[in-house]
Amino acid sequence: MRLLHACARRPVDATPVWLMRQAGRYLPEYRAIRDKMSFVEMCMRPDIAAEVTLQPLRRFDLDAAIIFADILLPLEPMGIGFHFTPEDGPVIERPVRGAADLAGVHTIDAAADLQYVMDAIRLVRHELGERVPLIGFSGAPFTLASYIVEGGHSRNYTHVKKLMYEDPVAFGRLMSLISEVVVDYLLAQIAAGAQVVQLFDSWVGWLGPFDYERLVLPHVRSVVDRVKGQGAPVIYFGNGASGMLHHIATAGSEVIGVDWRIDIDRAWEQLGDVAVQGNLDPITLLGPPAAIEERVADIIARVGGRPGHIFNLGHGLVPQTPPDNVKYLVDVVHRLSVAAI
Ligand code: CP3
Repeated sequence: MRLLHACARRPVDATPVWLMRQAGRYLPEYRAIRDKMSFVEMCMRPDIAAEVTLQPLRRFDLDAAIIFADILLPLEPMGIGFHFTPEDGPVIERPVRGAADLAGVHTIDAAADLQYVMDAIRLVRHELGERVPLIGFSGAPFTLASYIVEGGHSRNYTHVKKLMYEDPVAFGRLMSLISEVVVDYLLAQIAAGAQVVQLFDSWVGWLGPFDYERLVLPHVRSVVDRVKGQGAPVIYFGNGASGMLHHIATAGSEVIGVDWRIDIDRAWEQLGDVAVQGNLDPITLLGPPAAIEERVADIIARVGGRPGHIFNLGHGLVPQTPPDNVKYLVDVVHRLSVAAI
């Protein structure tokens, strides 16, 4: 399986490719199910979650599946609660704004509390057999903390940053508690059959390197330390983090995901001896095939045949993406990389 070889920086016959948010609203077959039930209901029905996980693999020659779930699911058993609204996206029901709010927040028993995710993983593994590996995932501590403290989407991350500055002890306690949850959640996914796990640090790029290094990175390291070596390589993806790759490089994961804001060869120089995942701008997929091919060729040329490249977008696919362009992308990555290896 190409993806597992690339994670270990072993040679491959073609560059493995999968796409963040490869399941979702850009696919009509996803929307057909979504028209009948809410997103959270879809996540909680293992048969539906498994079906939606497999939808993109029926259309495209992808090298991995990623379990259909969401980084916010653990917030329910943590006692924080959330729902989605069409206007504002995720809304956190009991945000944590200070030490006092922490009293109602607790760790979870992921295998039991999020059993529906584990059941979906087992179903997908059964369906996939040895075709491609299945990726499990979790939000990283800061990205989850940003939702838990802000209460939803945020422009400037004012609440979570104020908490960091005014009460670093409470912030640290929240980050430690989230880290416990993340470790338990990822280990439960590995036990259920996830063969690779990715930590999504989607909003970490809104921090400067000073705060990232002191207040966030130690928690990332502690999560990676406890999950690594348990049977599944770890991918750590920090969105917007290309100015802090010298810190990200010390996270300890076998694979580092990079966004599209930096040339991949420059990123790799700073990251050193790891596998690297990325880094096409997801909006490229709204352009014509020739524009897609030109940018894929640039990434593959910059990688220069180094082992350990996993092709991906620099962030998730957007709902406006034409499925035909996804097919073109996946095929062109294989075609051009075969020629380059
Ligand atoms: O990658 C995949 O195909 C697996 C599925 C997946 C989803 N969410 C499905 C989803 C994954 C890996 C995620 C992770 C996730 N969820 C992240 C990290 C990745 C990233 O993009 O940075 C984040 C930040 C979230 C939180 C979240 N969930 C947001 C901001 C939203 C969008 C809200 C909106 O209204 O647009 C979601 C909902 C969500 N998660 C959808 C999907 C397919 C859309 C739900 C729908 O059908 O309405």
